[in-house]
Amino acid sequence: MDIVLSGIRSTGKLHLGNYFGALKNFVKMQYENKCYFFIADFHSLTTHPTPADLHGSVKQVLAEYLACGLDPEIATLYVQSDIPEIPQLYLLLNMNAYKGELERCTSFKEKIRKHPDNVNAGLLTYPTLMAADILIHKAHKVPVGKDQEQHLEMTRTFANRFNRMYNVEYFPEPVAYNFGEELVKIPGLDGSGKMGKSEGNAIYLSDDPETIRKKVMKAVSDSGPSEPNQAKPEAIQNLFTLMKVVSTPDTYAFFDEKYNTCQIRYGDMKKQLAEDIVKFTSPIREKIEGILADNDYLRKVAKLGAEKARESASKTLSDVRHIIGFKEF
Ligand code: TRP
Repeated sequence: MDIVLSGIRSTGKLHLGNYFGALKNFVKMQYENKCYFFIADFHSLTTHPTPADLHGSVKQVLAEYLACGLDPEIATLYVQSDIPEIPQLYLLLNMNAYKGELERCTSFKEKIRKHPDNVNAGLLTYPTLMAADILIHKAHKVPVGKDQEQHLEMTRTFANRFNRMYNVEYFPEPVAYNFGEELVKIPGLDGSGKMGKSEGNAIYLSDDPETIRKKVMKAVSDSGPSEPNQAKPEAIQNLFTLMKVVSTPDTYAFFDEKYNTCQIRYGDMKKQLAEDIVKFTSPIREKIEGILADNDYLRKVAKLGAEKARESASKTLSDVRHIIGFKEF
């Protein structure tokens, strides 16, 4: 079975875009691959969260993952900082990661442009930590978005460099794992672009029904089509895209027909869309709340995940130490 691995930084709550763009697929993948999904809390330290925020975010993401259907008995679900082998491999990989290549990384350049007052070494070596995450389980497939592909490329560079340096074929080359046709880009409610945490256009899985209704009713639309079968402008297409993923095919076809015959009332469409989103997210929201209230369960899940992850991680680290030449007296 292929080894699939992905990490999620523990920053903020998950929204519909995260669900349909990633999580829904993670849930499917867990049955067909050996999956490792973890919460990247070391990575989140680059922006210096308070101790309370750090823990709260890890807990929130873990609860949301479980509520969406990741099964801790099937996949290995863990918190990065529970695995001491990861920072050890990170240290070793850093010895062969060069300042020049780290500085050329797009995400690093972006970060220093936006936050010139916080250019720390953790930020510079973010790609080696990510490589350690991936290589510690010798993962083959890494489901990530476009924005992470350069990091994955660097992971391949570090893996190959290690193999060459010690003349071994130890680390496999991990590749991005895309879900082909199934990958849906979920738009935001502000008329253009995709749903994002920082855009203020998102519907969160944990939003209550009233919040969802308010957000949807405020979504950008227009005055309606003037000719039959007109192409849909972006803001309208976005409402239909959302409807496609949460509503029944009949509902979608009904409003599509209304649009094509110039009889659509966006108020009605939004009301329907809001109710269908509420219907879709409510069971997930209730599960999130139940799990967050059950600390014993969360502790058990984290413990089980850490045990399973450390089994694989300690094997890799011990092999790597052996290859590098660490020896007992
Ligand atoms: N850098 C990733 C992000 O920001 C999160 C991440 C950390 C990750 N380690 C990883 C993703 C390993 C995949 C594999 O989204």
